[in-house]
Amino acid sequence: MANNTNLGAAKAAKNDEFYTQYADIQKEINAYLEYNPDTFRDKTVLLPCDDPEWSNFTRFFAQNFERLGLKRLISTSYAVESKKYKDYEPTLFETESPWYDADKTRIKGKIFELTRDTNGSGRIDIDDLEWHYLEGDGDFRSPEVCALRDQADIIVTNPPFSLFREFVAWIVAGKKHFLILGHMNAIHYKEVFPLIQTNQVWSGIGFNLSMVYKAPYENLLEANQKYVRSKGYNPDDRYIKVPAVCWFTNLEHGRRHEPLKLMTARDNIRFGKNKDVKERGYLKYENYDAIDVPSVESIPSDYTGVMGVPDSFLGQYCPEQFEIVGLGSGYLGQSIGVGGIPKEHKQQMRGHSAAGDLYMLVGGMPKVPYSRILIRKKQ
Ligand SMILES: C[S@@+](CC[C@H](N)C(=O)[O-])C[C@H]1O[C@@H](n2cnc3c(N)ncnc32)[C@H](O)[C@@H]1O
Repeated sequence: MANNTNLGAAKAAKNDEFYTQYADIQKEINAYLEYNPDTFRDKTVLLPCDDPEWSNFTRFFAQNFERLGLKRLISTSYAVESKKYKDYEPTLFETESPWYDADKTRIKGKIFELTRDTNGSGRIDIDDLEWHYLEGDGDFRSPEVCALRDQADIIVTNPPFSLFREFVAWIVAGKKHFLILGHMNAIHYKEVFPLIQTNQVWSGIGFNLSMVYKAPYENLLEANQKYVRSKGYNPDDRYIKVPAVCWFTNLEHGRRHEPLKLMTARDNIRFGKNKDVKERGYLKYENYDAIDVPSVESIPSDYTGVMGVPDSFLGQYCPEQFEIVGLGSGYLGQSIGVGGIPKEHKQQMRGHSAAGDLYMLVGGMPKVPYSRILIRKKQ
């Protein structure tokens, strides 16, 4: 049985308060290092939503400071009084520190920096982090955190999902390299999709993941508990499942340059795995000059026109192989000329269509396919 108090708290926190697991960060970062071991060498890395008391991003980069060859690590945290979820007590790490200030602890952000071996242990690690309170609350949009962004080479974090649009705009304004987590929905944001289309943002290695995060609240729903347990975590320790999560980045990795291995249209129709393609071939949209391709594996290697493919394409997109023409829905669909839907077809779809959506006729009946990205093979 779901507990209303906990669900209410989770809602209030607007899903902004959950913490990434160390192993998930490690797995993603390793992929960039495999491609280029010097990805982080001599770089200043900023983690702008991260307090080492709970952020594994800070832990990971501090523990691996020397291995990655970092020049400087900066991690800033957001004041509890500014958060939507305010259940917080300062830990011994803070209260036993000479910099602890009871008047500041709830209203000021903190900055943690790592550049050198401060404790004489012979290595630079998390124990060498030095910290102090910020002037303000640590909002990434504040002038002092913007100034830190400007000093950084690479920004890494899991930002608050509710501010994802603003967060991406903030990074782009600073012209920085980045690696951040976000929800798959973000692909469709009018502020994000054009960046994907123009190869300023792409999917990391982890794409459409069901993540297990640590949260300051419980999710007692049975499906959550079952999933969390299946991944080896105890839901009583406040672990929650968040589906459809994706790493977004502009750092190079190897998968991005591996072209998809595809069959011709003819072979897909004869031998392919997609049932719809085998039954009816590739349908054309009624309101845009392109064919519908219902699965990534059934993209025909020999088609030179525009094709509508599912979002999952972005997890395998190789910019040397394809160009992205646009998004086939809503405002972005309209902006590339996806036409209107005649009244009689609209009525048949009973409200399941919006301006800018692609549609096709399946057995004579109008149908809007579930979310399509329009692509074209590079010549
Ligand atoms: C999804 S959590 C992720 C925390 C951490 N990056 C991690 O993955 O473990 C996002 C964090 O950003 C904080 N936050 C919310 N709004 C913020 C803002 N405007 N500026 C900086 N941090 C903010 C939230 O309080 C929360 O701790």
